[in-house]
Amino acid sequence: MERLLTGLQPSGSLTIGNFSGGIRQVIDYQKNYETFLFVPDMHATTVPQDPYALHRNIKSAVGLYIACGVDVNLENMHLYIQSENLYHANLSWILECMTPFGELTRMHQFKEKTKNKEGFSAALATYPVLMASDILLYDAKYVPTGIDQKQHVELARNLAERFNERYKGDYFLMPEPVIPQIGAKIRDLKDPSKKMSKSAENTKGTIFLLDSEKDIRKKIMGATTDSDGIIKFDEENKPGLSNLLTIYSVFSGLSVDEIVEKFKGCGYGELKKSLADLLCEKLTAIQARYKEIMESDIIDKALDRGREYTEKIAREKYELIRKTVGYGRI
Ligand code: TYM
Repeated sequence: MERLLTGLQPSGSLTIGNFSGGIRQVIDYQKNYETFLFVPDMHATTVPQDPYALHRNIKSAVGLYIACGVDVNLENMHLYIQSENLYHANLSWILECMTPFGELTRMHQFKEKTKNKEGFSAALATYPVLMASDILLYDAKYVPTGIDQKQHVELARNLAERFNERYKGDYFLMPEPVIPQIGAKIRDLKDPSKKMSKSAENTKGTIFLLDSEKDIRKKIMGATTDSDGIIKFDEENKPGLSNLLTIYSVFSGLSVDEIVEKFKGCGYGELKKSLADLLCEKLTAIQARYKEIMESDIIDKALDRGREYTEKIAREKYELIRKTVGYGRI
């Protein structure tokens, strides 16, 4: 079975954007690939985190993966926490030594996250290398993510190629980003020029998977649209409305064309109300399963099994790479 790998940072509570770009794809592909789904907790500390909140968000993330439909009973599903496996950071160091600093500071996310900021951590620049290490350690062929992570997966490809060429061998498999056709970038409901983010300062534009019905309705009804009143998918001229149609498609399984047809001649209010109903129905079902999962031992069992399995693979790969670069004794 080919391998598929992805992770979602526990830097806050997960959003419908994370569902769309990350979790949903894992659920769609989980039966066909050996799946490595992990919590990149070390990525979260690129910015300061409250330790207690971080612990809580890690467990909550895993609870949500499972509540959304990740099947921990599948033999080929491996759930684990990045920091419980020391090889991720070790491989990252070796790869960092092969990455020109300029390649990191030119990345979109680095520029965005550091814009008008001072005193940010060096890890904000180097974290894509840790991400490359997360991927390359396991010879993952497919990396499902939203569009925002595509450049980072491309860095992993560059590093794999660079390493294989320098040391003349097939040490790393070339990973491929898997970006969904629809919902690769869910936008902020209040400011559709931005992507919806779990760490946005204004949470009115973000729907969290654990939001209450009241909040979901309020946020959808208050979403920014435009004034021409025509329901049409046009990301350039009608980014707010197109975003609502995209979210509708992600959660209903209908195509955007089908949704436009369904709401032909209706006002935006009607579309918003129907979308709010849909999200409330889907998210309350997820939340009910989440509550049960959080009170059970499913999470710990899955993580223990995942840690044991994935650590062995990571250790073997790391040992090979460590010797290849000349570390330690012959
Ligand atoms: P993170 O935690 O920012 O996002 C997790 C996943 O959700 C996707 N995503 C979105 N998709 C659509 N619309 C949005 N508004 C939206 N916001 C987020 C992201 O693209 C991602 O798929 N560096 C990664 C985590 C990571 C990782 C990895 C991913 C660490 N190591 C190895 C894949 C492979 C990150 O910060 O994602």
